[in-house]
Amino acid sequence: MINPLRGMKDLTFEESQRFRYIIDTASTIAKRYGYGYIETPILEETALFKRSVGESSDIVGKEMYQFEDKGGNDVCMRPEGTAGIVRAFVSAKLDRQPVKQKFYYYGPMFRYERPQKGRLREFHQFGCESFGEASVYEDFTIISMIKQIFDELGIGFELLINSLGCPTCMPPYRENLISFLTNIKEELCSDCNRRIETNPIRVLDCKNKTCQSLLTESPKLIENLCEACDSDFKKLTAMLDRAEISYTVDTNLVRGLDYYSKTAFEFVSNEIGSQSAIAGGGRYDRLVEFLDGKPTPAVGFAIGIERIMELVKMPELKREGIYMGAMTPEAVESLFTLAAQKRKEDKVTVEYSSKGFKSHMKGADKVNARYAVLIGEDELANHTLWVKDLESKEESTVALDDY
Ligand code: HAM
Repeated sequence: MINPLRGMKDLTFEESQRFRYIIDTASTIAKRYGYGYIETPILEETALFKRSVGESSDIVGKEMYQFEDKGGNDVCMRPEGTAGIVRAFVSAKLDRQPVKQKFYYYGPMFRYERPQKGRLREFHQFGCESFGEASVYEDFTIISMIKQIFDELGIGFELLINSLGCPTCMPPYRENLISFLTNIKEELCSDCNRRIETNPIRVLDCKNKTCQSLLTESPKLIENLCEACDSDFKKLTAMLDRAEISYTVDTNLVRGLDYYSKTAFEFVSNEIGSQSAIAGGGRYDRLVEFLDGKPTPAVGFAIGIERIMELVKMPELKREGIYMGAMTPEAVESLFTLAAQKRKEDKVTVEYSSKGFKSHMKGADKVNARYAVLIGEDELANHTLWVKDLESKEESTVALDDY
């Protein structure tokens, strides 16, 4: 028997209903905020992710599904959605248009990580990207939208926020941090030691307990922001307070992708184990430029669908559609014209084998039909149907031509 690859999963039956429910709910809400659907290829040039997610990130350094295609091109299965959407935005020259653009998307992402609960090698994201709006009001609006999505899905969360500064305040802070880290180098883990050289900000994100306790003393960017970043961050927290969206300022929240500046955030759940991030995002005002577009401010997020599947409170499934069955073999074929007619506006399940009454009623229950429509010998002779509304329990005999 051939099984799916490690870290990859089939979505079947009940799971696929949850999956669709999440996508449909999130899409409906995103559309209310003015987002339009976008789809970009799963396979992209490797250079796209190196330039955007960053060469020193774990994603690019260790986790890419990267290969040479038959034409000798260096390609990669997308590890996340933002880079491809920015590329599409620039490819379509949308960066030259004065209108603000907002896109939502969902689909599979690929990261060659060590699989565990909540961590897959193929997983799905629902995300939104908003281009052209520099105001921190947009950061607030995006966070409010994610809250609305989680509220609608019945999912509790904790919101962590931070500011990653801008080209004015980040470089001096970085220097400051490097000298702090160099002084405690011997006590830090090997990963952190490597990162001091390649990506010192990511050291703040180390999960090692010893490193974490040493880092409590590290300089904090939030205390060293330039005036503009500081004012935006204060505006954001004040708006969250006013909207009664609770949050924690996490000065060590740096995100695993290099393209962020200013606002960064994560939504976490304490109900799903160690892989607790259920959504992440932030501002990436310089990424369009990095990918050869005109400087365009942008902000976005992605929700990890698999991580919230178990948490979703699904609405009770309503009975829907019609179950049709015959109690005598001669009557079976008379159901097809009727079914074709009804399928123009409703869901119809036709049972091809003639069966007894009880058996048909069980069949109607199994497909959760609202109506059971049966034809027996009498109905066939009289050109009628026996119809039961399985919700109100009302039964009736209806002329075939009137149904
Ligand atoms: P990210 O934080 O890397 O951000 O991923 C977003 C979410 O995807 C995570 O919070 C998590 O729920 C889910 N996720 C990530 N890796 C895995 C995995 N191996 N298995 C299962 N779920 C996973 C991004 O990808 C950014 N593109 C978000 C963004 C959009 N920022 C701005 N715009």
